[in-house]
Amino acid sequence: MLEEILQIQSSFSSEIEDVDSLSKLTTLREKYLSRKRGLITLLMKELQNVPGGERRELGQSLNVLKAKVENAIEKREKELASLALDRRLEADRIDFTLPGNQRPLGHLHPLTQVRMEIEDIFASLGYSIEDGPEIETAYYNFEALNLPEHHPARDTQDTFYVSDSLLLRTHTSPIQIRTMEKQRPPLRIICPGRVYRRDNPDATHSPVFHQIEGLAVDTGITFRDFKGTLEYFLKRFFTEQTRVRFRPSYFGFTEPSAEIDISCVFCSGKGCRVCKMSGWIEVLGAGMVDPAVFSFVNYDPEEYAGFAFGLGIERFAMIKYSINNIQYFFENDVRFLEQF
Ligand code: FA5
Repeated sequence: MLEEILQIQSSFSSEIEDVDSLSKLTTLREKYLSRKRGLITLLMKELQNVPGGERRELGQSLNVLKAKVENAIEKREKELASLALDRRLEADRIDFTLPGNQRPLGHLHPLTQVRMEIEDIFASLGYSIEDGPEIETAYYNFEALNLPEHHPARDTQDTFYVSDSLLLRTHTSPIQIRTMEKQRPPLRIICPGRVYRRDNPDATHSPVFHQIEGLAVDTGITFRDFKGTLEYFLKRFFTEQTRVRFRPSYFGFTEPSAEIDISCVFCSGKGCRVCKMSGWIEVLGAGMVDPAVFSFVNYDPEEYAGFAFGLGIERFAMIKYSINNIQYFFENDVRFLEQF
C-alpha cells in the first residue's frame, strides 16, 4: 500500500501542474477525493484490511497525503480564480485616452442661413428686424395696404381664409403697417416670416414659403435711395458683378412700383435655360410707398416718403445655390441638407 500511496502522490503532483481551468480542477478533485471512487478514499477504505501495526503508520501517511492533496487543490483554485479575475479586468479595461464617440452635429437649415445672411446685410445698413402674426386680419393684409375689398390685385395672391375677416397672411407686407402704427419715422425695418398662398406646389412654388419685407421711411427719401439700397444689397448677396434692372410693375401699396431683376447668375446674362434665354432673373417686388398707405397709419405724406420691397427667401436660396426645385427645402432629406 505504501507504494500505492507514493505513486498517487507522484501522479497527483504532476497532474495538478497541468490543471489550467476550474473544470479540470473539479475533475482532478473527483479523481482523488470523491467520496465513492476517489483514489485516496478507496485506499482509506482498504486500510481496514491491513494488519494492526502497519495500519497506524499507513493511516498517518494517507492522512498526510490527503491533506497535501486538499491543500494543493485549494491553492490551485485560488490561483485560477485570481488568474480569471486578471483576465477579465484586462478584457474590460477602459482606455480613458481613446477619443469619445463623435455625435453627428446638425446645422442651420439653408433657408435659415439665407435669411440670416440677408438680415446681416440690412442690419449693417441700420435696419432692425420686426415680426408679426401669421394669422392676419384682412385689414392688415389688404385694406391698409391700399387693396380694398373687390380690388382685382387681391386675386393675384390666392388666400387661405380662416374666417370672413381672418386669413393666413399672403405676404409680409402687413408687418409694415403694424410697425408704422407703433413707431414714428425715421424707420428702417426688415420683416422676415412665413407666408401662405393657395398656389399649387411645383418646382418654383410652394403653398407655404418665406418672405422678407423691407421698409424705409424718412424725410427726403427718394427713388435714388431706393435704387441704391437695393442695388447694394443684391450685389452684396450675389456678386459684385451682378447687374440690376428695374422694370415698371404694379403693387397697390407702392407707387411707382418695380419688379427687380438681376443678371442671370448662371450664364452671366448671356441667356440659358434658367433665365429662359432672357439673361435676367426676377428677384424682388418693390416701390415707393404709396401716400395712401401713409394715411392709414397717420404719417403725413407731405412730410415723409419711403420705399418698400419684398423678396422670397426660397427663390434667393435657389439662385444662390443653383437649386432647381423649391420642394427640396421642405423634404428634409439629410443628403440635401448636409450640403449646406
Ligand atoms: C409680394 O408679395 C409683395 N408683398 C412684395 C412687395 C413688398 C412689393 C413691398 C412692394 C413693396 P409677390 O407676390 O411678387 O409680391 O411675391 C414676392 C416674392 O415671393 C416673389 O418674388 C417670389 O420670390 C416669392 N413667391 C411668391 N409666390 C411664391 C410661392 N408660391 N412659392 C415660393 N415663393 C413665392
